[in-house]
This record gives sequence, structure tokens and C-alpha cells, in this order.
Amino acid sequence: MQIEGPRVRIRGLEKADLSNTFAWRNDERSLRWFKNATPLQWESHVNWYDKYQASDATGCMFFVESSEGSPVGQSSIYNVDGDSAEVGRFLSQPELRGAGLFREALLLTLYAAFDLAHLKRVHLEVIENNDRAVRLYKSVGFETTGTTDGLLQMDLTAGRFGPIRDALPFAITTQGSL
Ligand SMILES: CC(C)(COP(=O)(O)OP(=O)(O)OC[C@H]1O[C@@H](n2cnc3c(N)ncnc32)[C@H](O)[C@@H]1OP(=O)(O)O)[C@@H](O)C(=O)NCCC(=O)NCCS
Repeated sequence: MQIEGPRVRIRGLEKADLSNTFAWRNDERSLRWFKNATPLQWESHVNWYDKYQASDATGCMFFVESSEGSPVGQSSIYNVDGDSAEVGRFLSQPELRGAGLFREALLLTLYAAFDLAHLKRVHLEVIENNDRAVRLYKSVGFETTGTTDGLLQMDLTAGRFGPIRDALPFAITTQGSL
């Protein structure tokens, strides 16, 4: 399965992607923005992926790459509960931040959630002073629903995402199914 915009595409996370996601996650520019800011160990990263693959968990782990095939980031839809789910595990390659590539990947992830998986609501948690991430989430329609222990809870409904998707100045194409 692949969902494609003009600059990036998202596809299922593969084992061969783990060396990239491991390096990005442990980079000092990323680590502090995760609830668990302890550096990952390679073995537990691989074990986590193997367990995820073997489980019957619903949702999708996406790897983001540029249209030319270079690695850009990761995103995920998980903890699906009826017609709502959590989104997150958002992470981009530190050198590529600030160019709008991940924003496009986030829009493709939300397209997968609402238009392909027909969810009605997605939600996330973000460390409240992660200004860059909060700005990004607000720019695609997320609203803050609460704050607990330094974490903002934000959500986005299909009703709010619809007009944002309709106003996108580009087409989204999909190959395969979720
Ligand atoms: C949060 C994170 C995934 C966002 O990814 P990113 O690569 O910074 O995302 P983008 O480059 O798409 O960000 C949009 C920025 O690009 C700018 N931009 C530049 N050209 C652009 C274009 N053509 N189109 C859209 N935006 C563009 C936007 O103005 C925006 O700038 P801002 O950060 O000053 O608001 C990334 O910063 C990251 O991995 N952070 C560490 C981990 C983390 O915080 N994860 C989230 C935990 S909840």
C-alpha cells in the first residue's frame, strides 16, 4: 500500500527502515520530545517491530519517503477503538525539518485515517512546549482538548478534516489498500 502526494509518499514500515528510524529517534534533536526520552536500544527497537508484525493490532505504521525514494520520516495510526484512533509516532529526519515535507506526510496519514479507514476522530498527545509540533498539528486542523502533566491532548474530527482535504492544492493517489 502506498499513498502519494506531490513531494512524499507513505507506505508500510519495513524492517529495513529500522536503522533510519532508530537513528532519528535517538538524535538529540528528537529525543527530548518523546514522553520516554531514554535512548532506545537497537535490540528493543527490533523486538518492538517484530512484536508489532506478529500481533493482530489494527492501525498502520508508515514510513515516509520522498518521491525520489529518499528517507523522510515515520508516522502511525494505532490504538484503533471503534471509529476513533490515536495518531503519532511522528518523526522526521532532523536534516530535512522545516521544508514542509513532513506536513505533507501528516496530511497523507490523516487521509488514510479518515478517507481510507473511515475513522471519525483521531487524537494525539504532545509535550506542551513542543511548539514546532503543536504548530504543525494546528495547521492541519487539530484542536486542543485538554492538558495533563505537561502534555496537550489534541483531536481532529472527520468533519474538520474534510474541508482541509478538499482545499489541498494537490491530488492524493493511492495504490493497494490499507
Ligand atoms: C514534529 C516533526 C515530526 C515535524 O516535522 P518537520 O520535518 O519539522 O515538518 P515540516 O518541515 O513539514 O514542518 C513544517 C514547517 O516547514 C515550513 N515549510 C517550509 N516550506 C514549506 C512548504 N513548502 N509547505 C509547508 N510548510 C513549509 C512550515 O512553515 C513549517 O515551519 P514551522 O516549523 O516554523 O512552523 C519533527 O519536527 C520531529 O521529528 N520532531 C522531533 C520528534 C517530535 O517532536 N515528534 C512529535 C511528538 S508529538
